[in-house]
Amino acid sequence: MSTPATPAPSFAVTGATGHLGRLAIDALLRRGVPAGNVFALVRDPDRASDLADLGVGVRHADYDRPETLEPALEGVERLLLVSSPTPGDRVRQHGAVIDAAKAADVGLVVYTSVIHADETELVLAPEHAETEDVLQGSGLPFAVARNGWYVENYTGRLDEYLERGEIVGAAGDGRVSGATRADYAEAAVSLLTGDIVDQQGYWELGGPAFTMSDLAETITQVTGTKVVYRDLAPDEFTEALVAAGADQATAQFVTALELSTARGELETDSPALENLLGRAPTSLEDAVRAARI
Ligand SMILES: NC(=O)c1ccc[n+]([C@@H]2O[C@H](COP(=O)([O-])OP(=O)(O)OC[C@H]3O[C@@H](n4cnc5c(N)ncnc54)[C@H](OP(=O)(O)O)[C@@H]3O)[C@@H](O)[C@H]2O)c1
Repeated sequence: MSTPATPAPSFAVTGATGHLGRLAIDALLRRGVPAGNVFALVRDPDRASDLADLGVGVRHADYDRPETLEPALEGVERLLLVSSPTPGDRVRQHGAVIDAAKAADVGLVVYTSVIHADETELVLAPEHAETEDVLQGSGLPFAVARNGWYVENYTGRLDEYLERGEIVGAAGDGRVSGATRADYAEAAVSLLTGDIVDQQGYWELGGPAFTMSDLAETITQVTGTKVVYRDLAPDEFTEALVAAGADQATAQFVTALELSTARGELETDSPALENLLGRAPTSLEDAVRAARI
């Protein structure tokens, strides 16, 4: 008599209509998880018809509507909680998801945090660190993917860099361990699908480090159009952003991120991303090449 196969666990991904969430759903399916065992948790199910077409279960889950969260997590064994894009609200929003995960008896929560969340002056970090504490305090098994910067933060501006012939910033020669969203998504899915005992804890994730001058040089090499990096003093940079149309608060926020870069807060020498991927992260050169297509 044959032994019945163990049913595959069920996985859910929040923010599944966003960039990282969609890539995580793709990564789960590419790993061979049956679509019927994958749930896309979305704020607006009408925008997830392409996911439903793949056979993925689409469920309404709004971080701001806690009553949607526990039903969305029913039967889910492992959850990827993609951090909210709304600064200021995130601890409450993430806390609501974690509470619902606890009530639904989810067996593992993987949370996308930010690089060095607990030991950095990066302005975005406190909400992530606080969420990490809430997650740890929940008693749920968890893994925290402390993602470094997306390379797409830069390659998404490639046309602008090429048009101006320069990248303007205040990052000095600070290095950024950037990686593609697809690599971070695949790493998160590796944590989600892996052995819970081995993978619990905090993972500092980032690709090969580059300075803004390295980025300019790579763009020049890949595109054949000369691009240089022009470094401004912080005040000058803020003024340039305001002159280009940013409001003062946004300009100061962006300048603060540049200063974090200058201080090395976006750099890590952790091999965790490469280890979780089982291969080298996508190179900056390949990311620039892909953005050009
Ligand atoms: N490491 C980095 O460089 C970097 C850069 C930017 C952001 N991030 C962080 O990483 C996260 C994922 O990045 P991403 O590129 O995938 O961002 P994204 O494309 O903006 O996706 C964010 C997702 O969050 C969803 N969302 C927003 N408010 C929600 C709510 N109240 N309830 C449920 N879902 C809600 C959005 O839903 P809709 O599709 O309905 O809008 C979207 O699907 C961001 O949210 C942010 O926390 C990191």
